[in-house]
Formats: sequence, structure tokens, C-alpha cells
Amino acid sequence: MTVDLLDFAESGGCSAKISPKQLEEFLKYLPVVSDPNILVGIDTHDDAGVYRVNDDLALVFTTDFFPPVCSDPYEFGQIAAANSISDVYAMGATPVMALNLMMFPSARLPLEAYASILRGGADKAAEAGLSIIGGHTIDDNIPKYGLAVIGYVHPDKIITNSAAVPGDLLILTKPIGTGVILAGQKLKMAKDENIREVKTLMKSLNSSAAAVMRRFGVKAATDITGFGLAGHALKMARAGNVTIEIGLEALPLIGGAYRLADDGCIPGAAFRNLDFVEDDTFFAEDLNYNLKMLSMDAQTSGGILMCVREDISDEVVSALREEGMSASAIIGKVTEKGERHLRLINNA
Ligand code: CO
Ligand code: CO
Ligand code: CO
Repeated sequence: MTVDLLDFAESGGCSAKISPKQLEEFLKYLPVVSDPNILVGIDTHDDAGVYRVNDDLALVFTTDFFPPVCSDPYEFGQIAAANSISDVYAMGATPVMALNLMMFPSARLPLEAYASILRGGADKAAEAGLSIIGGHTIDDNIPKYGLAVIGYVHPDKIITNSAAVPGDLLILTKPIGTGVILAGQKLKMAKDENIREVKTLMKSLNSSAAAVMRRFGVKAATDITGFGLAGHALKMARAGNVTIEIGLEALPLIGGAYRLADDGCIPGAAFRNLDFVEDDTFFAEDLNYNLKMLSMDAQTSGGILMCVREDISDEVVSALREEGMSASAIIGKVTEKGERHLRLINNA
């Protein structure tokens, strides 16, 4: 029996996240925590929580899981694991151990599919040099998979989403468009070569981006996932109390993404993200509509968005490209806080 996981999910990957607007509503009900060892808590909406163990060690703790983004169970396991580990890399940390989180329709899917998902996750974890030491499975209608991951970081070397400084340039390490291509795949509008590219990108770990950030002493970064480039950039600008300006023509795009957006293949998650950023964003009057919607597109296992001092930015881009992140590009800059936290223009 051939299994097609896409038959089991309406929207997969990070597109299945609830809207960032709703999330902010829920988060208001969480109690404020006041433990001096919590170095990064929920208030800045960072990629992971960080807990200081002693002067030399802090734990980075994060989880992510989602419904299938591809047909093949093994590949889905790889992608979901790469995405879960990404938040550890975004904080400049080294992943050390993880737990499997699995929801699985055992009456409708053969157990081999279950095993393949876990095998994909385990292989990706091994590539990242971390061990999966346990997990939990629930019988559920829509399959979902991901990891809870712990990483190590020196307390002085944490990379946060709140450390952007006016004058920094913004570098993005992976091209944009996974949500649009995955929607195009469902609608049979995407080309096979574009689907292959998107799967390769989603499977690739952000480990070398983290290594480059550590090498150049980068202080501010986040990874681009469900809230899209614009949503995560806005969260970063708010956390740092700065304005972030992005020139959309500089965005690296996945092959076929622009064409699909132009054909109207723009998933609902992009509109949810637009709804979230709209009130706090300046849009240039002549802004290219397709690029605007691609900047809202929910990314699954997307790249790292980092803030880098202008004088070393070209060197950082070269280093990223040498490490295989060939689409890495400077896409905008950080300025003093203006009227809005985010500015989207065609050309920075
Ligand atoms: Co993240
Ligand atoms: Co995450
Ligand atoms: Co971060």
C-alpha cells in the first residue's frame, strides 16, 4: 500500500499554525514568570525559552510539530525534525537532545508509515548531532510530528530576536515561498522541479547558518516559519524597539514561487499574517503585490533572518554562500523606531 500523507491534511507544515493575532490574545492569559534564571521568556516572543543553569551554561528549550507537508512519510519526518531543531540554531545554541511528539491515525495509516516518519526524524536528529531520548504518541485523525528540543548555549552568547540595533543590515539565508509552492502542489499547479527544491530547502538544517552567526558574533536573529518573513521581522522589530525596513525586490525566492503567486496561488496563512502585520506596517504605495504576499507567506523550516553590522555584512553573506546557503542575501536594514515597526518597500 502506498501512503500519501497529503491526503490526511488540509494545510500542512507551519501554515497550520494558528494566526499570530489569535496567539497574542491567548498569550495574555499566561501568568508572568519571574525566575531570575529565565534569560529569555515568552514576553519577547522569541524562538525558544532560555534558562540559565550556571555562569557557563544555559538551556535552550523549544518545541514544534505540524501536519504533513509532503506525501512521503520518511521525508515528512526529516522536514518536521529540521524545523523543530531550527529554533535552537536561531538562538545560537547547539542542540543536544530531543523528544518525539507524534499524533497518528492508527486505524487509517499502516504502522510502516509511522515507523518511516520516526526514522526520518531520527536520521535528521543524527545529522544535527543530537539524540532522541524518548517521546509520546497520541491516536489522532490528522497525523502530526515534531520534536521538543534542548540545546546548550553559553549565557553570554545567546542570540535573541530582541537585539537588533539601528544601522544593522538584514540577511536572509533561505529563499522564500514554501507556503505558495506547497499550496501549488495541492492544486497541481506547481512544477515537480519546484517541489523538489522546496523539499530540499525544508530538509536542510540551519546549523551552518548558526555556525556563521557564532563566528561573526551576531547578536540578533530569528528563523522564518509560520508567520512569514513580514510577521517574524515585525516580532523582531517590536522586541528590539526598532523599525525594520525590507526591500522586497531583494528577496531570494524559490523557483516558481513568483509565478504561482501571480497566478493567485496564495494560501490563507499569508492573509492571516497580513492581517497580523497590517496595522504596524508601512507599505510603499507602489508595492509589488506578489512580493508583498510572498513576504507574508508562511514558511515551513525556513531560513534564518539575522541582523549584522554593516561593515561585516558582505563578508557574512560570502561565508553563508560558501557554506551552501547560496541564496543568502541582504534584504533590508534596521533603523531607529519610526511611526511603524515594519516598512515594506520595493527597493531598499
Ligand atoms: Co522560530
Ligand atoms: Co518554532
Ligand atoms: Co532567537
